[in-house]
Formats: sequence, C-alpha cells, structure tokens
Amino acid sequence: MPLTKTNGTITPSPHLPFGDQQTAPWYGKDILSVSQFSRSDLTYIFEVAHEMREMVARIGAFDLLKGKILANLFYEPSTRTSSSFTAAMERLGGSVIPINEVRYSSVSKGESLPDTVRTLECYADVIVLRHPEVGASALAAKYARKPIINAGDGIGEHPTQALLDLFTIFEELGTVDGLTVTMLGDLKYGRTVHSLARLLSLYDVKINYVAPPIVAMPREIIAEIDRKGIPQAEFTTLDRPLPETDVLYVTRIQKERFSDPDEYESVKGSYVITPATLQAAKQDMIVMHPLPRVGEISMDVDDDPRAAYFRQMEYGLFVRMALLAMVLGKA
Ligand code: CP
Repeated sequence: MPLTKTNGTITPSPHLPFGDQQTAPWYGKDILSVSQFSRSDLTYIFEVAHEMREMVARIGAFDLLKGKILANLFYEPSTRTSSSFTAAMERLGGSVIPINEVRYSSVSKGESLPDTVRTLECYADVIVLRHPEVGASALAAKYARKPIINAGDGIGEHPTQALLDLFTIFEELGTVDGLTVTMLGDLKYGRTVHSLARLLSLYDVKINYVAPPIVAMPREIIAEIDRKGIPQAEFTTLDRPLPETDVLYVTRIQKERFSDPDEYESVKGSYVITPATLQAAKQDMIVMHPLPRVGEISMDVDDDPRAAYFRQMEYGLFVRMALLAMVLGKA
C-alpha cells in the first residue's frame, strides 16, 4: 500500500508509485473541517484552484490524476457536490465510482459506515462522503487508510463548499479583507454558513447574520468567531445591513432538518431577494447562494451582474480539482 494512516497521521510508504508525493503538503490528508486550514493554506489552495481554472479554460482536461480513482459516497441527495467532484476527477484524467444512492448498495443490508469505507478504499484512492450525521466524516476517517473528504455531515460542516465560497469572493472581488459579509436565511441548520463563518474569521471582515430567531446562527459559532475578534451583528430583517454589504450570502430554509413541520411553516418564505431588494445594495456587491434555491432568490435577479451564484458553482469545480490533486500528492 502506498499510504498508511495511523491515528490520523499519514505515513507515506517508501514504495510510492510517484517520485515526489511525500513532499506535497496535503498528500494523504483528510479534509474534514475548515478548522484544519490556516490563512496561508487557503492562499495555497486558491493558487492551485486558480491554476486549475486557467488549465480548464486552455485545455479542458489533462492527465494529472490518470490512473487514480475517486469513490463518491453520498448518503444524502446532491447535485452540485457530487457532480462537481466527478467532473473534477474526470478533468484531471482520473475516474469515479459513483454511489449516489446508498440504498442500492450494501448499506441497505445493514453495512456500517466503517465497513463501507474500508470496502471502497480497496478500489479507490480517495473517498468523498456526504452523510446526514454530524461527525460521520471524522468517523469514516478514523477507519480509512485513504483520504476522506467531507462533502457535508448533517448540520455540521461542508468544508469544500466554504472553500469554494471563499474562492468565489477572491475571484469576484479580489480580496476578503475589509469586506462586510451578510448571511441570510437558515443559519441554524445551514452547514455551509457554519463553515464559511469560521473560514471568514481568518480575515479582517465584519459578519452580519439575518435570520428568524428560531433558525439563528448557533450561539457556540458566534462565540467562536467572537474569540477571534471579528465584529458580528444579528438582525431579523435585511434592510439595515444591506447597504453596507459586500457579499450577501443567501441560504435555503432547510425543510428536511425540522422535526416540527409547523416550525418550518412559520419561517418558510421569510426572505425573498428580488430586483427591488437589490436597489438598496451597493453596485459592486455580489449575491451568493450555495444552492439549491427554493424561492429565496427570485429568478428575475439572475441577470443582475451582481448575481454570482451560478459562477460560484463553476468555481467549485476548480477548488475540488485543487483539493483532489493536493490529497493525491499532485499539487
Ligand atoms: N451546495 C451543495 O452542497 O449543493 P448539493 O446539495 O447539490 O451538493
């Protein structure tokens, strides 16, 4: 085996198939949480992602990961994360084992998550995992010898989404320092905003939270960001924070996470961004959304140049190409 992990520490074998993998800083590592990343790590990832963007524009696909195999293991629905990891692997010359519907796998016979990842790593070099339970990726990583990439663990984290969100801000606005980021919608169950707030706290930003009280940003995340000295403010309506906002990050109310349907009904449709809403916003701000949307941004906003959410999906391809190349020792 070219790679062994012991208690989360990677020990590259002396019999690696490629010459310089041991020196690659992310070779063989799991990507489980944004708390793994320093500001200089992010600079490095975004440089690689930017190079991937240019390579895709110039030549479309290339053989950096030829012969490598990704297992895409999704216990929850996904369109963007699953297909962008597939596209990323294929554009790098590798191939994919898609398990996008676990009920057709041996999971439906009762196979545990540890056994499932131990199976897939016999065939694949890296596993991308989405799972409904917080901590599932960390559990999988404990048992797997190959790198695990967290593609969303319940209401916990979605680190690759936060990385692509931050990359979007850099590519669109040129900087993160000095910006005011306003997060809107379901901040309690939205794992993307949990990860993004933590990553933003590495920069000189102000963060506003706009949400109905029952889906407000969790207190422990606000306290964690506060300890980094980041100014934060909470609102229930967008009118006050919007004029100072550089990035409006809109999220869907996550119906599937509510145990009480009446609670969902009480907050659904709380916010809808329309062209009229954006009249009060800066001309050089951007509107982001991890998608899917279910009505919180009206389709008439899509043609506004500030609507960055479709470009954001494309940036995700380049970030995921960078991450795969990194953990497989090729960046
Ligand atoms: N943003 C995101 O995670 O989308 P999917 O659920 O479609 O993967």
